[in-house]
Amino acid sequence: MSIKKIGVVGAGTMGHGIAEVSALANYNVSVVDISWDFLNRAKERIMESLNKFYEKGQIKEKPEDIMKRIEFSTSYDVMRDADFVIEAVPEIIELKRKVFETLDSITPSHTFLASNTSSIPISTIAEVTKRKEKIIGMHFFNPPPIMKLVEIVPSKYTSDETIEVTIDLAKKMNKIPVKLKVEVPGFVSNRIFLRLMQEACREVEDGEATIEEVDSAARNGLKLPMGIFELSDYVGIDVAVDLWNVIVSSGTAQDVKCEMYKRKFEAKELGVKTGKGFYNYPAPGKYRKVELQVTSKVDPARLISLAVNEGAWLIQNGIVNAKDIDTVMIYGFNFPKGLMEIADELGIRNIYNHLVDIYSKGYVAYRPNSLIEELINTSKGFYM
Ligand code: CAA
Repeated sequence: MSIKKIGVVGAGTMGHGIAEVSALANYNVSVVDISWDFLNRAKERIMESLNKFYEKGQIKEKPEDIMKRIEFSTSYDVMRDADFVIEAVPEIIELKRKVFETLDSITPSHTFLASNTSSIPISTIAEVTKRKEKIIGMHFFNPPPIMKLVEIVPSKYTSDETIEVTIDLAKKMNKIPVKLKVEVPGFVSNRIFLRLMQEACREVEDGEATIEEVDSAARNGLKLPMGIFELSDYVGIDVAVDLWNVIVSSGTAQDVKCEMYKRKFEAKELGVKTGKGFYNYPAPGKYRKVELQVTSKVDPARLISLAVNEGAWLIQNGIVNAKDIDTVMIYGFNFPKGLMEIADELGIRNIYNHLVDIYSKGYVAYRPNSLIEELINTSKGFYM
């Protein structure tokens, strides 16, 4: 099936970036949102981003010409001839289901419908349509024009054809697809991200370190592009709290007590988008790299211990392998190397000892996964 026109529903942070990526890959694109305020802002942001690429010589085609392939509308009518639609509206399940009901009634029967949801189960979205086999998760990363990863999340209803078409489309968009074998709340990316946030938060709330020390260890010790709190600000604390709640309430991950995120959310200090979160930014929507001291007393192995434990859980449950987890972290979060590879380098026993120590303080989520125990007993690593 050849895709000629792509529809994007929602012109926010992710939607406008997905529209840009689609137009850069030479597709005609229609973007729908509820108001011209959102659509005009999206136009500006796409232009800004295309201009950056053009000025650096990373694209040859003029931004104005690329823009000609994108139409904007407040009416779903423009979706009537779309071959593949990607939904990127806020993470409210009722809203997503309403959007899919509308798309199902408006688009031709051959059209594939994807959701960019970061955590909502795809099957619950598919169930409102009459084409469950054509519904799939296509999870992009912020900022979509820069981040290479796309998680491909089939539900129990998704057909092989839909999976193939979506993987092919991701590749044509110059992205690196990672397919989950089984659908799991939060997918791979956000389950690992949740665990990083939980441990970062625990360390601060238990008085082991400050926010800046945790982030300095992430940036200077682990060489990540952003600290964990900085990344939470970048993604949006509302989005972070949302994915946290979805994953924990699904019953597939034990919670870790953490008040800081909740307090920020309640104070509407949502990070970069509001100009203030764990850090202050020059203006709402304007990110500037956070300045941090270089040294930190935080042990990088402790900081990633819960995330590595989660990685072991994902492997043990047949959702992905260690290599897939590493691809997700390298291309979805710009890690300099994979999480599981870092774990091997820092030593599985070291990671295990941190898990046991924190578990002994009463945090049940840190109970070491049996795969980690097995690796220790056989003196192996995830790759070694
Ligand atoms: N379009 C075009 N260019 C862009 C851009 C955009 N939207 N955003 C950034 N850039 C360019 C900048 O112009 C800059 O270019 P130069 O180096 O040529 O000047 C370059 O990218 C780097 O940007 P900055 O100098 O502003 O800042 P930085 O060095 O800190 O890089 C970053 C910014 C690329 C975002 C980097 O910090 C990073 O990789 N951070 C991690 C981001 C991440 O983990 N994203 C995933 C979040 S999780 C998610 O999205 C899933 C979910 O469901 C929650």
